[in-house]
Amino acid sequence: MIAPSLPGLRREIAGASVVDLADTYGTPLYVYDADTVRRRCRDLAAWDTIRFAQKACSNLALLALVRQEGVLVDAVSTGEIHRALTAGYAPHAARQPGPDGLPPAHPIVYTADIFDRDSLDAVVRHGIHVNCGSADMIEQLAERMPGAAITLRVNPGFGHGHSQKTNTGGEGSKHGIWHEEIADVLRRAEWAGLQVSGLHMHIGSGTDLAHLADVAGALERVAVEVGRTLTTISAGGGLPVPYQPDEVRADLSGYFTLWDATRKRLEDRFGHRIRLEIEPGRYLTAESGFVVTEVRAVKKQGSRKYLLVDAGFNTLARPVLYGSYHPMSVCPRSEAPGQAAEEVAVGGPLCESGDIFTQTDGGFVATRSLPTAGVGDLLVIEVAGAYGFVMASNYNSKPLPAEVLVDAGSHRLVRARQTPEDLIRGECL
Ligand code: LLP
Repeated sequence: MIAPSLPGLRREIAGASVVDLADTYGTPLYVYDADTVRRRCRDLAAWDTIRFAQKACSNLALLALVRQEGVLVDAVSTGEIHRALTAGYAPHAARQPGPDGLPPAHPIVYTADIFDRDSLDAVVRHGIHVNCGSADMIEQLAERMPGAAITLRVNPGFGHGHSQKTNTGGEGSKHGIWHEEIADVLRRAEWAGLQVSGLHMHIGSGTDLAHLADVAGALERVAVEVGRTLTTISAGGGLPVPYQPDEVRADLSGYFTLWDATRKRLEDRFGHRIRLEIEPGRYLTAESGFVVTEVRAVKKQGSRKYLLVDAGFNTLARPVLYGSYHPMSVCPRSEAPGQAAEEVAVGGPLCESGDIFTQTDGGFVATRSLPTAGVGDLLVIEVAGAYGFVMASNYNSKPLPAEVLVDAGSHRLVRARQTPEDLIRGECL
């Protein structure tokens, strides 16, 4: 039997047997490890508020899990507001400051660059705090919620992400209120009778601490322009996680110190406490998540060997969208599989050449060194808990996979796999 420690082999996820998981729930399957999520939440305990960008992984069980860790939540749509409320978040904050003198935190914040008609209705109905990414949202909200307090999401004129598609700052990004328009936007808020109580910047997703550090200074400059109505500042999300084997975990203590100093300078200037928020998505859930998939064919195309599995870019879209790297491991069905590692390309079942998990940016097929696997063996795609299930689709009329949470060695279904009936619900002949 191969030792479980052999590189590229994985027989367990958080103490649960991968074979048992596959046999119990079927494949492809998303599996989350609750303890990893808790650990990531606790890494950020120094911040006054951790606000989970639930777009990364919005299963109700995950929302309830982070809520138990004291994490608050961001919502970008009516659907995400609905999820947050269903997971037990209150729609709005207590009115009194806490014992620490900090202003109360909004349990749910709606952050977007537009209100569609539905989301404006939901925000008004539940009294949800709004982080405005476009000035036009100010008058639209004022008409329906006179006197509301708002946050401004500001585009500082620079940004950075793991891909150009996840860079949310600078002229190339549609996001946020342009930093040079602040004076005008403050006038609009005043005319509309809304008070600017929060300031927020998010320059991109999957960036690095060097780029993120530039945000603190940019936010401080805008904060001085906004003035004493400010009670909350948010550093946004974007914290990196290690995907590649040579990547190390970012040291977050220096990052907090930088923001804490920014907050303290603003407190001295304004003469009141300022709540400091961070808004991670990926950081809280990426490493907790795994896609368990089964090898269904092994073939050679000329000199290249392919493993074809039952998950595709309908299951995990990050490789086809961004050329993203996800670690992979093999879980053999038998106790004595061939040990040799081999170079393989890994692809899915979809009728499109781009349905490859081992691709680089631009769609070029690459290979990965993995222990030999045959039909029936399982392949585990790792660090898939952020922007994994939430970006899955029904392409090729494939059902959305099941989701399972492993906690303290036991596992439970937290979302059932879609059925053929689910696939055609709402359609008419
Ligand atoms: N705050 C705002 C306003 C955001 O737009 C986002 C992500 C976050 C926070 C969380 O960013 P994070 O901490 O997760 O980096 N689908 C892409 C990522 C898109 C991110 C969208 N916004 C991916 O798979 O990498």
